[in-house]
Amino acid sequence: MNVQVIDVADLTVRYGAAVALDGVTLAVRAGEMVALIGPNGAGKSTLVNTLSGILRPTAGRVTVTGRLAHVPEGRQMFGTLSVDDNLRLGAWRRRDRSTARIYAILSDLAPLRKHRAGLLSGGQQQMVALGRALMSRPQVLIIDEMSLGLAPLVVAGLATHLRALNAEEGMAVLLIEQNARLALELCTRAYVLEAGRMVAHGSAAELASSPAVVAAYLGGAAEDGT
Ligand SMILES: Nc1ncnc2c1ncn2[C@@H]1O[C@H](COP(=O)(O)OP(=O)(O)OP(=O)(O)O)[C@@H](O)[C@H]1O
Ligand SMILES: [Mg+2]
Repeated sequence: MNVQVIDVADLTVRYGAAVALDGVTLAVRAGEMVALIGPNGAGKSTLVNTLSGILRPTAGRVTVTGRLAHVPEGRQMFGTLSVDDNLRLGAWRRRDRSTARIYAILSDLAPLRKHRAGLLSGGQQQMVALGRALMSRPQVLIIDEMSLGLAPLVVAGLATHLRALNAEEGMAVLLIEQNARLALELCTRAYVLEAGRMVAHGSAAELASSPAVVAAYLGGAAEDGT
């Protein structure tokens, strides 16, 4: 499949005088899983927020084809609302607001449907944020910092869900991750963003064997397999 669901070309985004993205190019094709890695402050969330229309490009082109859903950094639950109500908010534009499909996919959420979202654990909240995004039946899903603050087992569970949604429904995924190892395992291609510039891109296998990527993101020789 060569249809692009995300096409970013020569994108520049400024906050006032500060340049957050400087001539960035990135593409995601239908059904692809693509990772975006990079250190704190690189501009990852700026790129994602521009894709979802929260920020405007200063220059360059951003094209999204098909329904896009965005799991924002920090999950952004409505803490006083129930899990079920948080999920429904993900479908505010749709006639069908049934949450049954989400509980079938993310079965750990089913017993929590009446719980207040703000009282859930971090992993459970990330599951709600994912479920809320899935309510719009997206063709492309962007997840900003999926694993942040979550235990390895919880992260593995989320990764399994993403793989299944990608394989079974052909949903494209753009995964923003500080955990480069996870990102390169889960995705077939990846981009590396540093200080607002795209410094590398390629297949996950190529990047995982690039000395610069290994040194900066995979713990270099100190690799311990965790
Ligand atoms: N609203 C804002 N106003 C001014 N500067 C901002 C704003 N949001 C982000 N920045 C700056 O833009 C740069 C990119 O920030 P961004 O949040 O996109 O990085 P990031 O790669 O997502 O980082 P992190 O990994 O910490 O989430 C940083 O230097 C940041 O300080
Ligand atoms: Mg960010």
